[in-house]
Amino acid sequence: MELRKQIEEAVECIQSKSRTKPCIAIILGSGLGGLAGEIAREVTIPYAEIPHFPQATVEGHAGNLILGTLEGKPVVAMQGRAHYYEGYSLAQVTFPVRVMRSLGAEVLLVSNAAGGLNRLFRAGDLMIIVDHINFMGSNPLIGPNDPSLGPRFPDMSQAYDPVLIDLAERVAIRLGIPIRKGVYVAVHGPSYETPAELRMLARWGADAVGMSTVPEVIVARHMGMRVLGITAITDMATGEQVQPLSHDEVIAVATQIEPKFVRLVKEIVREMEV
Ligand code: HPA
Repeated sequence: MELRKQIEEAVECIQSKSRTKPCIAIILGSGLGGLAGEIAREVTIPYAEIPHFPQATVEGHAGNLILGTLEGKPVVAMQGRAHYYEGYSLAQVTFPVRVMRSLGAEVLLVSNAAGGLNRLFRAGDLMIIVDHINFMGSNPLIGPNDPSLGPRFPDMSQAYDPVLIDLAERVAIRLGIPIRKGVYVAVHGPSYETPAELRMLARWGADAVGMSTVPEVIVARHMGMRVLGITAITDMATGEQVQPLSHDEVIAVATQIEPKFVRLVKEIVREMEV
């Protein structure tokens, strides 16, 4: 079925359960779903009830769409996301972004857990994404383009909104939350990187590595959204020492970072002009 029609079906389903007209869309990454508890909820809709929505199958990703208000602003939030490595196409992975945009959201606030490539970083840090490298080997816009959704060749010179980056940095400083800024590189996964791969990614100029976010950002930009990306650095992945890594560890550290992530995002949302 045509993408536009699928989006319309999902939007109709959500609007039949909710009157919220969100101005901000939020994607909560691994171990960061707790922000959902701060939203004054109108409704919680399991992804399984929304036509064409991919299910989040990974531990640490709940799989609910939440509509309500955060700091007085109407929001739609994804508690959990689908990943490319789960076997979905990137078009499926990014479908919810198109739906949230069609519900009215003009800003995408996307979060994730990632490994730190920059040697100055430490596990437990928060990083504002200033740019990305798409090393997933694919792109969500492959295939026919519907010009009513966005351009065939969308510009990516400012994928992450400079005004929102400044706002996030100012808010972090004011709240006394140490904050990093850096480049996020997306890999396909699901295997973690080898030390040689990590050294390569660091030399490319990436500060953090993860398995999500870039497809969603590309689609958000395709549809003209302003994007803010926030990364929780859950482990150091410099490739210099041999350090085994597990998903449990990633989730455990993300959960430790969560309270300061929640404080930061709430204040950003409160101050955001939308
Ligand atoms: N590599 C890739 N993805 C990740 C990592 C990592 O080190 N940590 C959390 N997500």
